[in-house]
Amino acid sequence: MSFHVTEQAPARLNRSELAVPGSQPQLFPKAAASDADVIFLDLEDAVAPDDKPQARKNIIKALNELDWGKKTMSVRINGLDTHYMYRDVVDVVEQAGERLDLIMIPKVGTAADVYAVDMMVTQIEAAIGRKGRIGFEHIIETALGMQNIHEIAAASKRNESLHFGVADYAASTRARTTIIGGANPDYAVLTDPLEDGSRQVHWGDMWHYALARMVVAARANGLRPVDGPFGDFSDPDGYRAAARRAAVLGCEGKWAIHPSQVALANEVMSPSEAEVTRAQRIIAAMEQAAAEGKGAVSLDGRLIDYASIRQAEVLVSKAKAIAGA
Ligand code: GLV
Ligand code: MG
Repeated sequence: MSFHVTEQAPARLNRSELAVPGSQPQLFPKAAASDADVIFLDLEDAVAPDDKPQARKNIIKALNELDWGKKTMSVRINGLDTHYMYRDVVDVVEQAGERLDLIMIPKVGTAADVYAVDMMVTQIEAAIGRKGRIGFEHIIETALGMQNIHEIAAASKRNESLHFGVADYAASTRARTTIIGGANPDYAVLTDPLEDGSRQVHWGDMWHYALARMVVAARANGLRPVDGPFGDFSDPDGYRAAARRAAVLGCEGKWAIHPSQVALANEVMSPSEAEVTRAQRIIAAMEQAAAEGKGAVSLDGRLIDYASIRQAEVLVSKAKAIAGA
């Protein structure tokens, strides 16, 4: 390990993150009763400009009055390029009470964006005598945000997670697609003809680079990487596949833009019983190896060593956190 110690963000389950428009309070009770680990009440893109003042009021009332159980509660404010953002921060932080855990900052582009919101939140927290510190979630969804991702990730002690906002990222990078997440048939290679003349199309994941880069920036700064939306809520298999590929890269969770996606995210982002059992066997085998003075041994015909313990511990501690939630 490096001599540098990476401070970890407060531990929270973040397997599923349900998006709920602040302008539709009739959806709040169902969201509160859902199994989502995190809910973000939206003031940004799911809310029309004329509805923003009422959406703020709805969110403040609901955070004060509804029983959200043990969920982590977040509010997505508007971007720093709009005139809605300052009022979002002032009204919500002043009036939403201690039940507000996080603020989600969309389209964050530079470390200075984080600094600006941090400055406002810090002043308001001090002025109202807030007990708990509000954390930040950042949506990486512009080319600028991706370019500055490492500085953004390190920009505030409030930072807790980075999220890949695939829809705006596609728009910002001018990717030739109009779908929200998922695979794209144009991002593929055509194989050379085989002996029989046949050729195959191999689809690739056009979001791989962005997601992998975000995972590195998040983990290097002790933050949770979370994959963003999958727009086709009538395609659970497509959602599962997208979530699985995010999970194997290191993401802790995925957004749910529809309540039906919460169970899918929780399922995919929780280690399976078989994975946990294997992880426990690796730890036990390595403990025995260490007692015998060995650094590496074989388990089921494969080499395992001290790095295997660290991999296994990630899964086992995740399973414990889920069991204790
Ligand atoms: C989320 O905000 C996205 O743009 O995908
Ligand atoms: Mg967006």
